Amino acid sequence: MAEHSLLRFASLSLSFFLLVIQPYETFASSRGRSLGLTANNFILAPPPTGICSAAVSVHGYECQEYEVRTDDGYILSVQRIPGGRRGSNGKKNKQPILLQHGVLVDGMTWLLNSPDESLGFILADSGFDVWIANTRGTRFSRRHATLDPTNPDFWNWTWDDLVASDLPAVLDFVFKRTGQKIHYVGHSLGTLIALASFSERKQVDKVKSAALLSPIAYLSHMTTALGVVAAKAFVGEITTLFGLAEFNPKGQPVTNFLKGLCAQPDVHCYDILTSLTGNNCCLNASTVDLFVKNEPQSTSTKNMVHLAQTVRDGILSKYNYGTATFNGLHYGESKPPIYNLSNIPRDLPLFLSYGGQDALSDVRDVETLQDALKLHDPAKISVQYVKNYAHADFIMGVTAKDIVYNQIVSFFRHHS
Ligand SMILES: *[C@@H]1O[C@H](CO)[C@@H](O)[C@H](O)[C@H]1NC(C)=O
Ligand SMILES: *[C@@H]1O[C@H](CO)[C@@H](O)[C@H](O)[C@H]1NC(C)=O
Ligand SMILES: *[C@@H]1O[C@H](CO)[C@@H](O)[C@H](O)[C@H]1NC(C)=O
Repeated sequence: MAEHSLLRFASLSLSFFLLVIQPYETFASSRGRSLGLTANNFILAPPPTGICSAAVSVHGYECQEYEVRTDDGYILSVQRIPGGRRGSNGKKNKQPILLQHGVLVDGMTWLLNSPDESLGFILADSGFDVWIANTRGTRFSRRHATLDPTNPDFWNWTWDDLVASDLPAVLDFVFKRTGQKIHYVGHSLGTLIALASFSERKQVDKVKSAALLSPIAYLSHMTTALGVVAAKAFVGEITTLFGLAEFNPKGQPVTNFLKGLCAQPDVHCYDILTSLTGNNCCLNASTVDLFVKNEPQSTSTKNMVHLAQTVRDGILSKYNYGTATFNGLHYGESKPPIYNLSNIPRDLPLFLSYGGQDALSDVRDVETLQDALKLHDPAKISVQYVKNYAHADFIMGVTAKDIVYNQIVSFFRHHS
């Protein structure tokens, strides 16, 4: 990788940490703690059975665990909350909704606030049939027909493969189980894979509408603050440190890498990370505690590299193998094929909600996305701008129900 892209990769990796690290500021007593870098912060006991028993049944909701196999052999864990706290009232043919989380987290993120504040529960209480996806590599989706997660081949994938395999596997499964088209909710990377898929006109036959929170498609503007920091780091070590295998944010190589960055003179990760992720306005300290106990989750280093390419290149394309020859071998073209968002069917109902303080889904990049959608049927697109929201507010904000989730419910009802 060129130095430039390495810098951006470093920025990207760090900035995704912000979700985890930044909220600690509020009650940090030392620098180490504020960074979340001490081993203890990251020692997690995964719930023994799964998300249903850990986070759903405890609140009095019915919950079912499923396994879904992708066409490339991954076995994904999926949860279903078929009814609200007061049961499903015997209602048949409820409208299914699929919740797709972002990178470095898992489906638990939809359930961390109280039931009155968490999107997963609010949708169930609003009469929807809620399904929760967990991307390959996250703690409950670390299985494969033939590969073990200790095998680097298990990690040979990028978000292209989530578009090509994970998303269709889960949508197919829900579609077959319920016999109905699905409303989709994505956050962060969960928006990117949906947009990329729709741009290839894939899955649009199974999706009724999509709500995209903190949409990311273009990422060119997210790195500015951190470029300075990363420049001071030993960014050249990234690929040797991590290899093209598991990117485990709780693992020693990533932890050491961050420590190294943050130990540099003049680098105050505390401030820099804040400026990077944006200021989440509305997080509950207890929820943040719970978040840190449950997240972050692994992804593949190749996926992080692909995201870094997206940042660098300012266009949305498939993974770049680095040379015309290698790209030729994979794609039959010297450059990776692009995902052209102008090809998203213009009558597919879309709801976009983005924040003015979001450093990952930067306002300028969302404007680029809106520009790509400018020919969309105006009756089929709703855009909401939440001035004081940053990335995590959309999934954990205590005000998110009033500001965002009620809008989502109305949008889904309108397009039912
Ligand atoms: C990773 O997968 C690609 C196909 O997607 C394949 O061409 C490549 O050889 C694989 N790499 C390794 C190290 O197995
Ligand atoms: C924050 O979370 C705690 C624990 O779930 C809860 O008791 C409290 O009411 C929450 N505060 C707000 C403002 O939602
Ligand atoms: C994307 O698609 C639109 C409409 O189909 C077309 O006008 C535009 O040239 C395409 N963009 C690229 C970069 O191929």
